[in-house]
Amino acid sequence: MNIYAIVLAAGKGTRMKSQKPKVVHEVLYKPMINHVVDELKSMGIDETIVVVGHEAKQVEAIVDDVTFVYQKEQLGTGHAVLQAKEILSGKEGMTLVLNGDAPLIKRETLQGLIEFHKNNHNQATVMSADCDISTHYGRVIKEEGQVKGIVEFKDLLDSQKDITEMNTGEYCFDNQTLFEALDEVTNENAQNEYYLTDVIGIMNKKGLKVDAYKIDDFNEVGGINDRLALAEATQILKDRINKEHLLNGVTIIDPANTYIGRDVVIGEDTIIEPGCILKGKTVIGDNCHIGPYCEFTNVTIKDNVEIKFSVISDSIIENGVDIGPYARLRTNCHILENVHMGNFVEMKKAVFGKGSKAAHLTYIGDAEVGSDVNIGCGTITVNYDGKNKSLTKIEDNAFIGCNSNLVAPVTVKENAFIAAGSTITQDVEKDAMGIARARQVNKDGYSKVLEENRMKEFERRNKKK
Ligand code: UD1
Ligand code: CA
Repeated sequence: MNIYAIVLAAGKGTRMKSQKPKVVHEVLYKPMINHVVDELKSMGIDETIVVVGHEAKQVEAIVDDVTFVYQKEQLGTGHAVLQAKEILSGKEGMTLVLNGDAPLIKRETLQGLIEFHKNNHNQATVMSADCDISTHYGRVIKEEGQVKGIVEFKDLLDSQKDITEMNTGEYCFDNQTLFEALDEVTNENAQNEYYLTDVIGIMNKKGLKVDAYKIDDFNEVGGINDRLALAEATQILKDRINKEHLLNGVTIIDPANTYIGRDVVIGEDTIIEPGCILKGKTVIGDNCHIGPYCEFTNVTIKDNVEIKFSVISDSIIENGVDIGPYARLRTNCHILENVHMGNFVEMKKAVFGKGSKAAHLTYIGDAEVGSDVNIGCGTITVNYDGKNKSLTKIEDNAFIGCNSNLVAPVTVKENAFIAAGSTITQDVEKDAMGIARARQVNKDGYSKVLEENRMKEFERRNKKK
């Protein structure tokens, strides 16, 4: 049977007090809407429709592989779902409706919802959870195994105020039944909105089977309406993810101060020290030692790698490399096996060959460095002339003396030697030495002359005063 999904993301989220639409705000370094859509993608949903409206472009810019429909005015969740009518109403199958502001939902839970819906031959299934009596969620009204209706908090009758079973805002519907019921929804309620939740009462009038799928973990479904809830959601998700890694054989020294994104993969026996932020599509292999204080975004790290106090993005690091403290790698660096990279080294768009070393204070940008190269302290690839970026090539076994400038485009060939302090502007041949600095001159006794000159000048100035 086909399964469709509609994600509601048109609202402004007034209580966020933000120029950005609510669903673009990040929970654990990933926008809320991407959390929801990525879970759906991993389930192989046939078509996902995202309803956008307020600042739609900002949402469209960060979500791929979905169909967007536009809700011009935000007249309520029912009105939002109606925007998908043209695309979906003729189709047979099931439709999940999810709130874009509930990012912690898990794919396993959605699969549970679908199974429950199918097995019980429901026309509609509301996902519910127990909540605190004071929270402002809609409540599920049940009678003999049938959900009779959902009542918004503001519309609760006195006799309904002790109900703690809340509507999570996640549902599974028979697709065609959903759109038939939606046509009958009106906006006669406390907020003058077209409530999606009203379809439940309407389906009851038609004698259709509606049930609730109650889940244990309220935290998974709490909607985020303000920055307080946003911060709480990050903590909840962080704890959940860290727990999974711990149980999978990763040592996390201080889970309270370690932020690992939802899509990050970490191998066994890897140790994560305090203060690390690992995000994006980062993959870390086995037996690595990461941190303290590393920030990685989209980094692939193989096995037995050690990295301290470093910021790395969009790069690949092969086995046995050690980096840091205080290194920065960005934009497609590829660091090959057993490289040693020390303090205050920055690399950008660089391939750095097997066993090569840059131990201190170096910038390597737009470069191809071979294997067993030694880059001396203070070396700079001069890759930018103010208009163009150019390539520096350093071949195997070359030795770059301290404080050298390699003005690109330039190639230092195999086994060549660059004398310390050189500014190299021409290629250096295989086995050659490149030296490019003024020859040293020593002047006997000149130190004394200098001192006398300085003294004379000092006296002249003091006389003036
Ligand atoms: C909704 C439910 C409530 C449930 C709660 C769970 C309704 C009427 N109420 O309330 O029963 O307990 O979720 O979190 O459905 N949206 C649109 N277009 C609109 C209005 C909203 O796309 O016109 C989107 C919002 O961007 C948001 C989602 O729908 O992502 C939920 O809207 P929100 O206003 O937060 O609903 P709640 O009042 O929280
Ligand atoms: Ca909400």
